[in-house]
Amino acid sequence: MAFFNWEDSFSVGIQEIDMQHQKLVQLLNELYEAMKAGKGNDAVGKILNGMVQYTVSHFATEERYMKLHNYPDFATHKQEHDSLTKQVVDLQEQFKTGQAALSMKVGNFLKGWLVNHISGTDMKYSPYLRAKGMK
Ligand SMILES: [Fe+2]
Repeated sequence: MAFFNWEDSFSVGIQEIDMQHQKLVQLLNELYEAMKAGKGNDAVGKILNGMVQYTVSHFATEERYMKLHNYPDFATHKQEHDSLTKQVVDLQEQFKTGQAALSMKVGNFLKGWLVNHISGTDMKYSPYLRAKGMK
């Protein structure tokens, strides 16, 4: 059983975004597995860096579509993205400088954040963007 299982209820009904969300779930599972297996800081750090990069580019994708279609709650949504990006980049910095060991706490934090964001905030743009023809 993976640390984090994708559920159909996470689907926002837009294929490109669902695929990116699934990739994030997969990366988080890889991070978890690497920590659980006691892999060294290099290996764990690489996965963490990959996850940060992917998250940033995924947020950019969502923001591009929200802007393109004049999504009315763009500002609030963007704030949430910026806040997570900052938290994760801080974590990455701490990890790089050896101030923090990545722990299950971090895994659980990221998992909780992803679930809440996808099934709360992202779900709010779903009907709007789909009405604009996105699928
Ligand atoms: Fe989002």
